[in-house]
Amino acid sequence: MNYNKKTVRDVDVAGKKVLLRCDFNVPMAKDGSGVITDDKRIRAALPTIEYLLEQNAAVIACSHMGKPKGEVKPELSLKPVAARLSELLGKPVIMADDVVGEDAKAKAAALKPGEILLLENTRFEKGETKNDPELAKAMADMAELYVSDAFGAVHRAHASTAGVAEYLPAVSGFLIQKELEVIGGALANPKRPLVAILGGSKVSSKIGVINNLLEIADTIIIGGGMAYTFSAAQGGKVGESLLEADWMDYSNEMVQKAADKGVKLLLPVDTVCADKFAPDAKSQVVHAGEIPDGWQGLDIGPETVKLYCDAVKDAGTVIWNGPMGVFEFPAFAKGTEAVAEALSKTDAITIIGGGDSAAAVQQLGYADKMSHISTGGGASLEFMEGKELPGVACLLDA
Ligand code: 3PG
Repeated sequence: MNYNKKTVRDVDVAGKKVLLRCDFNVPMAKDGSGVITDDKRIRAALPTIEYLLEQNAAVIACSHMGKPKGEVKPELSLKPVAARLSELLGKPVIMADDVVGEDAKAKAAALKPGEILLLENTRFEKGETKNDPELAKAMADMAELYVSDAFGAVHRAHASTAGVAEYLPAVSGFLIQKELEVIGGALANPKRPLVAILGGSKVSSKIGVINNLLEIADTIIIGGGMAYTFSAAQGGKVGESLLEADWMDYSNEMVQKAADKGVKLLLPVDTVCADKFAPDAKSQVVHAGEIPDGWQGLDIGPETVKLYCDAVKDAGTVIWNGPMGVFEFPAFAKGTEAVAEALSKTDAITIIGGGDSAAAVQQLGYADKMSHISTGGGASLEFMEGKELPGVACLLDA
C-alpha cells in the first residue's frame, strides 16, 4: 500500500469549506452523564483542526461514536465531544443536530472561515457503515475539500471515511500523517533489530499480524492468553487457561515458519497461574506447559520477564501489540508492567499499537516514555497485518 499521501499542507485551504473526518469515538462514563473519561483522541485531532482554523478554513468536523447501527441514540450523541473540543480550542464549536439533514446543511452553509461545526454521529445514518454513495455525496456537497485525520477508523470503508473521497479532493491531516510515517516506517524500513511483542488473548485475532511480522521482524515475542495455545500445540499442559484448540496447528506452523526464516520466536518459559479468574485468586509460578489441572495462566512468569526484557534491550525498533497478561488485575499485571518498563528504558524506537496495549501503557504510567502510541486499535492491527486501509487508500498520493 502506498502511504505517501498528500496532506493539508499540500493544498490551499484558505477560505475553503473543509469536511474533516476525525475519530472522536471516545470512552464515556457508563452512567449516561455524558462525561468523557479519556479525551486523548480529541487532543490528537487538535493540530490539524488548529492548523485549518489558523489558515482560515471553515471546518465541518465529523466522526462516529460507538455502534448505533443507523439509529439516533442520544447516549451516542457527539454533543459532549463538541463541548470538550470547544474547551480545548478555546472557541465555540457549533453543533449540528444531524449529519446531512436540514440543520447540518443550514449550519454548514452559514459557516464562516475560521469557524468550526461538528456534525452529529455519522453512524446515526444508515448509509454510513454501508458506504452508501448518496450519503457520501450529501456530506461532500457541504464542502470543497475532504481531510481525513481519523486514523482509528481508516480500516473501515464507510461513507465518511472513504466514500466522500469519490466526490472531493482528499488529503490527510497531521495525525494520519504521523501514524503512517511511524508505523509505516517501522514496517517498511525498520531500524534493526526489529522486535515485535505480541500479546492479547487470542491467536485467532493476531494471526494476520504474526504472519506478516514473521516476514519483517528479527524477533517475535509471544505473551498473553494466546501463548497457551502455542504451549498446548507443543504438548504442554495448560489447565484451565484460554485455549483455542482450532488454532493449535496454526501455532505450530508459525513456530516452523519462524525457524525457516531465521526469526527468533520467543515463547514463555514460565507462567503465573491462578486458581480462578479473579483479582484475588491464589497464584503460583510454574514452568510453561506444566499448569496444574484447575489452574489457569494469567501472566508471564519472572524468568520469561527476564528473557523478554533482555530481548528488547538492544533492539532498534520495538512494536508492541497486546498485553502479556490480565493487567487489569494488579496481581497479574507484573509481566505487562515489566515489558512497559523495559520499553521505557531502551533506546529503540518504541511503537505501541492502540487498544489494550495503549491502555496498559497509560494505566501503568509509561505513556510519555514511548516514541509513539497509536490512536488506532483495529486500524493499527490491520496496518501491522499489511492490509490495505481504505481510509488511507482513498487519499491523494503525494
Ligand atoms: C476504534 O475505537 O477502534 C475506532 O474508533 C473504530 O471503531 P469501530 O471498531 O466501531 O469501527
